[in-house]
Amino acid sequence: MFYMKVAIFSAKAYDRQSLEAANSNHKHELIFFETQLNARTALLAKDIPVVCPFVNDEASAEVLNMLASNGTHLLALRCAGFNNVALQAAAELGITVVRVPAYSPYAVAEHTVALVLMLNRKLYRAYNRVRDDNFALEGLLGFDLHGCTVGVIGTGKIGMVFAQIMHGFGCNLLGYDPYPNPQFETIGAARYVELPALLANADVISLHSPLTPENHYLINAETIAQMKPGVMLINTSRGGLLDTKAVIAGLKASQIGYLGIDVYEQEAALFAEDLSNTIIQDDDFQLLKSFPNVVITAHQAFFTQNALQAIAETTLTNITDFEQGRVLTNQVKALERVGIH
Ligand code: NAI
Repeated sequence: MFYMKVAIFSAKAYDRQSLEAANSNHKHELIFFETQLNARTALLAKDIPVVCPFVNDEASAEVLNMLASNGTHLLALRCAGFNNVALQAAAELGITVVRVPAYSPYAVAEHTVALVLMLNRKLYRAYNRVRDDNFALEGLLGFDLHGCTVGVIGTGKIGMVFAQIMHGFGCNLLGYDPYPNPQFETIGAARYVELPALLANADVISLHSPLTPENHYLINAETIAQMKPGVMLINTSRGGLLDTKAVIAGLKASQIGYLGIDVYEQEAALFAEDLSNTIIQDDDFQLLKSFPNVVITAHQAFFTQNALQAIAETTLTNITDFEQGRVLTNQVKALERVGIH
């Protein structure tokens, strides 16, 4: 039988559409909640065996405890990252955790390249100027990517696609990854180095590693000081990889010349909602937005039709596999460290 009740949190219209379309093959009962999952909302999933959270939902030990005592057995993440899940608590409470390890590395890698080009050619300024009949070029001076050195931190699925695209531009590639991927050095002009060498030599640095306790604030005052003055820093992975206050100091000192981010460490309180009629209380975020050399997108790198379809299909297959007692190829275990390709 293909039937499980599934509580879907942080559900937007596009989630409903993609999950309902994919569900025609699975026939689960999908119950959509617009609210985020947290300690105040976990009770909504009472007597629902499967809970389906997204990136900014909270699956802390407290939340998992509430879910487990109300009959939830499966946490089916509809994303790749699982830094928001207390995995040890899930194991102790008998909650199985599955995720969507890969849906479209192209979606995220291509968005990363879009941020690079946006900053490099100042397209955000050019777009507004032309709309305003201002055709002056002062302030729009860019630089060729051809011949630049691009540092890729994390050379898994997304980092690899990003590296291949940047190779197409004629960039030299430096990679850093504690679990090197043999495919990386097969890309022309790509080689692995230790992190300090990458920081010291890259003109563009892009982060593509998961957020783990070990690499929280990987980009901090000390590592920023090791970068080339005027470096372009891009983060489409997880906000917690960057110490925001150190990045702001780096921007003010012009040590960081360009910043492109799709993720922000306090994004859970901001992203995915229309807050245009409210006063944003996050001073660091407001300050970041004010710099002329910063481009921010609100965690949309994954957001392509192809990726949504693949996320929905894999999420529902994970749930069906669980219900059928099949081997769960996308299970996340408490001791897992993402580094296996
Ligand atoms: P992946 O698991 O294929 O690759 C991650 C790579 O990072 C692995 O090679 C791993 O060894 C490496 N790594 C682990 N710790 C590291 C460290 N301290 N320093 C450098 N490298 C390290 O994962 P994938 O699919 O490439 O995704 C990467 C990240 O992108 C995800 O963990 C997620 O946080 C983020 N992401 C962001 C999205 C968005 O919409 N902005 C969407 C999807 C993923």
